[in-house]
Amino acid sequence: MRSIHTNLVALALVGAGLSACRGQVSESSPIVPIRDMHRQQKYRPQDSSDYYQDRRSMRPIPANTVSREQGLIDPELETGLSAGTRNYLDRIPQAALSMIRHRTNDGRWIEGMEGAVARGRERYGIYCAPCHGAAGDGQGIIWARSRISGYQYPQPASLHDDRIRHSPDGQLYATIRNGVRNMPGYASQIPTSDRWAIVAYVRALELSQANAGANP
Ligand code: HEC
Repeated sequence: MRSIHTNLVALALVGAGLSACRGQVSESSPIVPIRDMHRQQKYRPQDSSDYYQDRRSMRPIPANTVSREQGLIDPELETGLSAGTRNYLDRIPQAALSMIRHRTNDGRWIEGMEGAVARGRERYGIYCAPCHGAAGDGQGIIWARSRISGYQYPQPASLHDDRIRHSPDGQLYATIRNGVRNMPGYASQIPTSDRWAIVAYVRALELSQANAGANP
């Protein structure tokens, strides 16, 4: 008996709900039986609030907060752009080189450009060679396998293209950090100093294949 009663009430409710769907224009807000999470009390940017004494809902950043995104590192090192401009740095900055060192197999630490090239070689092998190939010719294993399987992965650029060989170091750095067209950015996998180390190695790789005399 009880359950028939409940059913009737439910039926009446559904009926009432449906009767609202007649298409007439209404000023009042619709009845929403199950509320979505985005319909809830919240502050919008710049709203005032009675909760805080200064009535600002947007709270000021606590003193001594350190941003993870800004100001930690020299902006030139981080972006590859010369400060305050849209121009790429021509050369790897000295400050980047001084952050890099590499431990050789016999346990020695090497620093400076030599350390950067060695570290970059290792990182290049991990992060770039699968697509660009160990020789930098753009025929890495991912591209080669994709051709066999019939899925055509776009061919990665050859790093020996004249355009890339003559591009500023900062641009190569920015390509690693931000990606370019079909190539994803590697900012979240490769830390800043290693990106510069890879730039150093790619330059060495390019020199190793450059035809001495032609296109110096
Ligand atoms: C997942 C595959 C993949 C990986 C990994 C990868 N690349 Fe690329 N890269 C590409 C593809 C594809 C292109 C061509 C993008 C296009 O033209 O759409 C490209 C383009 C480039 C270019 C040419 C940019 C230009 O100005 O045209 C450079 C330089 C480059 N990659 C460097 C690197 C370096 C250095 C690494 C290692 C940190 C790397 N790539 C890792 C796929 C990859």
